[in-house]
Amino acid sequence: MAENNQNAMAGSAPAKQKPAVSKGGGVNKPPVERADPNPYNRSRLSDIGAWLQDRFYVVMPVIDYLKKKEVPKHRLSFWYYFGGLGLFFFMVQIITGLLLMQYYKPTSAEAYASFVFIQREVSYGWLVRQIHAWSANLMVLMVFVHMFSSFFMKSYRKPRELMWLTGSVLFVLTLGFGFTGYLLPWNEIAFFATQVGTEVPKVMPGGAFIVNILRGGEEVTGETLTRMFSVHVVLLPGLLLLLLSAHLLLVQILGTSAPIGYKETGRIKGYEKFFPTFLAKDAIGWLIGFGLILYLAVVLPGPIGLEANPLSPAPDGIKPEWYFWAQFLLLKDFSFEGGELLAIVLITLGAVIWFMVPFLDRKASREEKSPIFTIIGLLYLAGLVINTWRVFATYGW
Ligand code: HEM
Repeated sequence: MAENNQNAMAGSAPAKQKPAVSKGGGVNKPPVERADPNPYNRSRLSDIGAWLQDRFYVVMPVIDYLKKKEVPKHRLSFWYYFGGLGLFFFMVQIITGLLLMQYYKPTSAEAYASFVFIQREVSYGWLVRQIHAWSANLMVLMVFVHMFSSFFMKSYRKPRELMWLTGSVLFVLTLGFGFTGYLLPWNEIAFFATQVGTEVPKVMPGGAFIVNILRGGEEVTGETLTRMFSVHVVLLPGLLLLLLSAHLLLVQILGTSAPIGYKETGRIKGYEKFFPTFLAKDAIGWLIGFGLILYLAVVLPGPIGLEANPLSPAPDGIKPEWYFWAQFLLLKDFSFEGGELLAIVLITLGAVIWFMVPFLDRKASREEKSPIFTIIGLLYLAGLVINTWRVFATYGW
């Protein structure tokens, strides 16, 4: 190496045989002169396609890879569409959220008035607001279905552990959108539900500090509204986009899994191309989803409610959005001395076990059936559905 260096410095080494070594120690390869650096065939492309290919030919292997990607067909393939549906409703949220932001004012003095203005005065404002509200609910529902179907198909098993983990963070962020968005209309229900929701950490050691962070003070005030707004429109979308990119990149790299034993027992009926076949079917689901939110927005519009008045007593039957009902009821059921803390510990423990499942279910990672985990999943699901139903039966919608 030292000899090489000396030769290079002295300029005595023949350039063709030995590469020169730069000062930093790297090898300076002589530049390869090519008349046409794009090695790909452009004969079947349009002029614009060829123009783009000449500039972006380095990404061609990725496009080739996507074209080759296939999705297995079997009797449970239906469940593969729910992740894409969650993605669709998220895109609807971004578009309608940007439109709402043009008129919404995130201060306690103006929020409710701007919300009523959007509903009553802005052209199609009512429609945009109702689509935003319904699409939020459907996004959460789709993410729930997607998470449970991935769980029961054991899609989290090796090598897809990171898909499950990134998905878990996406799940928390999705719920965060619901929680922070609920206060924004600054109506009575929103105000008191946020008061109850942000009160929960108080029973934990150091909980007062967390409550302070959530509320921007000791009480729910205009500070809380501004805080929830900035988290809802900046922090959460940014984090979600980052995590979603990782999640979807992993989907592309690792492909779609089939349930354990399906390949070996011949239960895979074939494979279909991701592009365009699977994507076209995804698009049909998205169209149906869009039809559904339009229908719900027109036929079942959400109420405007009364303006929040922090000095008035809380109305009866204050409850959070339906996707927090199960935890809400557990907290109510555990209303004995120290019970709320116990409920928080149980919920947190349950969530940690759930999100760590790829590392706990060792059998699934060895492609062996793991009925214990299927039973655990069924218990979680039953607990959620029963508690959600109980809240509905007690308080109504
Ligand atoms: C914003 C939320 C989410 C979006 C937009 C999303 C999107 C997607 C999409 C489009 C796919 C590929 C198609 C499919 O299998 O459905 C996928 C796959 C997957 N997702 Fe998600 N996801 C989200 C949340 C979650 C959550 C909460 C979990 C679980 C905790 C999760 C775990 C997985 C797994 C394990 C796969 C691989 C499925 C397989 O290969 O069979 N995702 N996701």
